[in-house]
Amino acid sequence: MGQVRHHDNFPSTPGKVKMDRSNYFGRVTSRWHSTASARLLGCSALLLAFALVVLFRVSSSSDLGDGGYFSHSDVHWAFKPTRVWEKKVRQSCLPRREDNPMVVLVTGAAGFVGTHVSLALKKRGDGVVGIDNFNSYYEVSLKIARQELLAKHGIFVIDADINDAFLLKTVFELVQITHVMHLAAQAGVRYAMENPGSYVQSNIAGLVNIFEICKAANPQPAIVWASSSSVYGLNTKVPFSELDRTDQPASLYAATKKAGEEIAHTYNHIYGLSITGLRFFTVYGPWGRPDMAYFSFTRNILKGKPINIYQGPNNKDLARDFTYIDDIVEGCVASLDTAEKSTGSGGKKTGPAQLRIFNLGNTSPVTVPTLVDILEKYLNVKAKREIVKMPRNGDVPFTHANISAAQTQLQYKPETNLETGLKKFVKWYLSYYGDNTPHESLVAW
Ligand SMILES: NC(=O)c1ccc[n+]([C@@H]2O[C@H](COP(=O)([O-])OP(=O)(O)OC[C@H]3O[C@@H](n4cnc5c(N)ncnc54)[C@H](O)[C@@H]3O)[C@@H](O)[C@H]2O)c1
Repeated sequence: MGQVRHHDNFPSTPGKVKMDRSNYFGRVTSRWHSTASARLLGCSALLLAFALVVLFRVSSSSDLGDGGYFSHSDVHWAFKPTRVWEKKVRQSCLPRREDNPMVVLVTGAAGFVGTHVSLALKKRGDGVVGIDNFNSYYEVSLKIARQELLAKHGIFVIDADINDAFLLKTVFELVQITHVMHLAAQAGVRYAMENPGSYVQSNIAGLVNIFEICKAANPQPAIVWASSSSVYGLNTKVPFSELDRTDQPASLYAATKKAGEEIAHTYNHIYGLSITGLRFFTVYGPWGRPDMAYFSFTRNILKGKPINIYQGPNNKDLARDFTYIDDIVEGCVASLDTAEKSTGSGGKKTGPAQLRIFNLGNTSPVTVPTLVDILEKYLNVKAKREIVKMPRNGDVPFTHANISAAQTQLQYKPETNLETGLKKFVKWYLSYYGDNTPHESLVAW
């Protein structure tokens, strides 16, 4: 595996050099008259040089040259394609079925949803290649284990960042990507208070980079990408419908997903990209995310540690529309299958293109205490429950999906209830970790 790049490296404001202000102004005043004309000349030369540099950078970043759309002077992408690498990409993208196969670039492929979607596509004979930066938001070993699982099924996951325009361009030149399943993102609502830059870097800059690459490709691929139920934020009208307001996000994570939906509209409108956004509702299951509550509850219950069960206003239990991973995969694959072709060519739109947004939920919310009851049953261990008032850290008291649009347009029909899904999760958890449960981490929904 290549070098792991950490999100904590998001370029920050350059350090400011401290200066003794009184000395500085003293020096300036005494030299001002004698050096005024020389300074003026120097300043004009500097201004001219600065203007030239800006002009050069703007013109060189307006196409997708090797440096990419963004100025990446702080990020050193060490990518150089080798023959072995190119062969792996080509092989991974080779479809095994004849009836209209897709060749799909899955971003975030070493992530929870990305792994499952990649496997489903490969199993039915589509070509799949993944990309993931293996960041350390949660245990990297789990991402590597997922990567190994995918490798066993003939799927190559490139260890790279979605902001690496040169690498993505190379992939698009090597193989004809027909669809992009864009799942890479900085997930979790609470972590946004610790590392806001990582959300901007992956969920905004990364998304734009993906759209830029797709826009420039010829033919352009169709894109399906993961938004989130969190865009409903403080909305209280239930169940949440795609037509409800989404302008009151409760976390930076939600705000970046909402921004993503607006950015998607722009790329569809200007460049004719076919784009489908999916608002997932609390996805859970085998190979899941350790930062999520059902996962960390399992970990702590097995360790005999207390678990915090949050309550909303008026001591109301929190509730989530928990959605089993297989149902989400069905929704993702159906979105890819029903995605129309993009209409742009050479970066220009030639006609209107498809733009869709769907809720993918289970449409039967379950309270957190009930979730814990089910976990206790399958783990055969009593949880040490601590009831705590929900802190103001971006969480919302409940989620509930209206899925009628996905039902009619995608034939989406969630089939796994929480009881059945958690049973499968616990089975996987025990086989994967055994007694070797790692340390606890952040909790997300
Ligand atoms: N799991 C859920 O309940 C849920 C709910 C709503 C939305 N979503 C969205 O679904 C998508 C998949 O979620 P998941 O649960 O599989 O999360 P995940 O964290 O397991 O997967 C995301 C993957 O993307 C990778 N990644 C992050 N930034 C990257 C970058 N800049 N370049 C390359 N790779 C990068 C991570 O390493 C990770 O493996 C995300 O977009 C997430 O926001 C998930």
